[in-house]
Amino acid sequence: MSPESPTPEAPEILPPDDAAFARAAALLRAGELVAFPTETVYGLGADATSDAAVAGIFAAKDRPQFNPLIVHFTSAEAAEAEVVFDDRARAVAAALWPGPLTLVLPRRPESRLSLLCSAGLDTQAVRVPAHPLAQRLLAECGLPLAAPSANASGRISPTEAAHVAASLGARVPLILDGGPCAVGLESTVLDLSGPEATILRPGAVTTQDLTPIAGEVRETLDAAESLELKAPGMLTSHYAPGHPVRLDATDVVGDEALLAFGPEVPAGAVETLNLSPSGDLTEAAAHLFAYLHRLDSADVRDIAVMPIPDSGLGSAINDRLRRAAAPRSQDQD
Ligand code: TXA
Ligand code: MG
Repeated sequence: MSPESPTPEAPEILPPDDAAFARAAALLRAGELVAFPTETVYGLGADATSDAAVAGIFAAKDRPQFNPLIVHFTSAEAAEAEVVFDDRARAVAAALWPGPLTLVLPRRPESRLSLLCSAGLDTQAVRVPAHPLAQRLLAECGLPLAAPSANASGRISPTEAAHVAASLGARVPLILDGGPCAVGLESTVLDLSGPEATILRPGAVTTQDLTPIAGEVRETLDAAESLELKAPGMLTSHYAPGHPVRLDATDVVGDEALLAFGPEVPAGAVETLNLSPSGDLTEAAAHLFAYLHRLDSADVRDIAVMPIPDSGLGSAINDRLRRAAAPRSQDQD
């Protein structure tokens, strides 16, 4: 749902009875958003396997950038279908899941998760929440759920249903009310994708909890800073094309492929994919990573990208496109 679309004034806030779970699961399976309690904070959940549903999260939060999202599972076994666990990751999961701990692990090439969840990184953050209502929702909808904290971008994370309603309003159709969150602070984010175990975001699971299981654990910067540092890395992996990208293209030159937007598309491209023929930014965001990937995977040629309006989700799309068009030298890892 885009923030621009007409919506009712307020979301539905339901006590967690059978009818509420049935409705929440149906909404999620239909690609809609549902806010739900976890032991840390309320999450804004969407079907993690659907590009359009995940794009809806960014639209509802009004995120200026596509930050990578945590995907929630009922069990470590379910997570293992999407990311690669080594022995160390298995030991940490066995000891501390379910619980307020997120693991950053290499994404499997065959993962069903939307590329928007990893925002172009080749890692994916995964978590098995302990909250019984989160567990029940995951089980009833039968989907992995991408869920950032259920607040508008730049606001404090919500620990009560009323906080979610105040921050997101009717951008989220349904909030499952589970009362206040026990931890009240976002999960610890532990990066186990490389040789050094690194805490990207401190939380209720501490270095002292982790060291006996994971060995030496490095504590860094907060997650925002570490993502800044990783920004060049975000140009690699899944969506940064290997070929030159020309932005704000209103025509096609030579052998270019065209990433189009809107109803009026210049002719002459060797291949054209339109992010949204109707000019819808949420639809465009949903297609962005997958289309860049497709245009880049065929024969060698340059990619021209039509101008995208810089409002709403458009600024997140443009942020990623600028990164994709940036010089190649810094983005080797
Ligand atoms: O407690 C929580 O973790 C809550 C509940 C809902 O589970 N979720 C949450 O999500 O706080 P969010 O999106 O607000 O924060 C996710 C954090 C961000 O700091 C993000 O940068 C980091 O995890 N993150 C996600 N994927 C990552 C990745 N592949 N590599 C590095 N950091 C990642
Ligand atoms: Mg957050």
